[in-house]
Amino acid sequence: MADNTDRICAGRTVIVTGAGGGIGRAHALAFAAAGANVVVNDLGAELDGTPSADSPAVRVAEEILELGGKAVVNGDDVADWAGAERLIDQAVQTFGGLDVLVNNAGIVRDRMLVNLSEQEWDAVVRVHLKGHFATMRHAAQYWRAETKAGRAVDARIINTSSGAGLQGSVGQGNYGAAKAGIAALTITAAAEFARYGVTVNAIAPSARTRMTETVFADMMAKPDDGFDAMAPENISPLVVWLGSPDSAGVTGRMFEVEGGKVALADGWRHGVPVDRGARWNPAELGPVVRELIAKATPPEPVYGA
Ligand SMILES: NC(=O)c1ccc[n+]([C@@H]2O[C@H](COP(=O)([O-])OP(=O)(O)OC[C@H]3O[C@@H](n4cnc5c(N)ncnc54)[C@H](O)[C@@H]3O)[C@@H](O)[C@H]2O)c1
Repeated sequence: MADNTDRICAGRTVIVTGAGGGIGRAHALAFAAAGANVVVNDLGAELDGTPSADSPAVRVAEEILELGGKAVVNGDDVADWAGAERLIDQAVQTFGGLDVLVNNAGIVRDRMLVNLSEQEWDAVVRVHLKGHFATMRHAAQYWRAETKAGRAVDARIINTSSGAGLQGSVGQGNYGAAKAGIAALTITAAAEFARYGVTVNAIAPSARTRMTETVFADMMAKPDDGFDAMAPENISPLVVWLGSPDSAGVTGRMFEVEGGKVALADGWRHGVPVDRGARWNPAELGPVVRELIAKATPPEPVYGA
């Protein structure tokens, strides 16, 4: 492909879910530019998850092919158990294996918790949380079988969380809970899959897409000239690097990515305990808890609070 990117993923086979638009499209193009075979997954959903007549994954695959890269389209729903299995199988059948799974597909149905419906809860938790687990589970089965067959596995999973899951976000209780779940799933998967040669990391990105352009309109504005810090293409270099052999040994980490910034988000940590050496009486805990809070680092503000 006509690109000056180092081909750090040459010959690797990569699945990017939700790659028909936004950040996923940028990942798919960046992986192809880095020499990877790309499975472009997208079922073509509206922002709230309802089916769209559009077939955006086909367009992205065509873009990759026109640039001289290798790509194939998959239109499965990542949160459908059999669909997720077909997605993994398609990568293996088409390209002879699977090296990288990028879980990126997502939807939003924002509403204050007090008004949030059961359907809005279920739809968002399903696509994000089950949509991460289902693909990871089928990919892990493939990698475990490869390891058992004596073939070397040097595989990667990159999940997509959000600041809404790490710090909380007013009006996004369903989305934030799913994204926090993805953070927890990532560290457990990293611990469980290490024995199969698989690293598992996650990103909390920030970029201008249809998901954010109305929410953070000012912040997301495109500059007339200079560096467009909110372009979704800024998120992909880290994800491509995490997908490459060079990232070996980096696992169970959460990366915040925006514009030219890359940071490690530090997760929940044990606090210094006050130990009574016996069971507490409820009435005596007031001053103890207040002192713990006074000594602790204050929590990050919740987005939109
Ligand atoms: N844009 C941001 O600033 C931001 C911030 C934090 C997290 N994220 C996360 O990044 C990811 C990408 O979001 P985006 O901003 O590019 O939004 P987007 O709406 O442009 O892209 C999401 C894509 O996922 C696809 N999709 C939805 N449900 C699917 C399903 N069940 N199976 C397969 N594909 C499905 C959609 O068709 C769409 O193309 C999401 O997980 C989102 O939550 C984005």
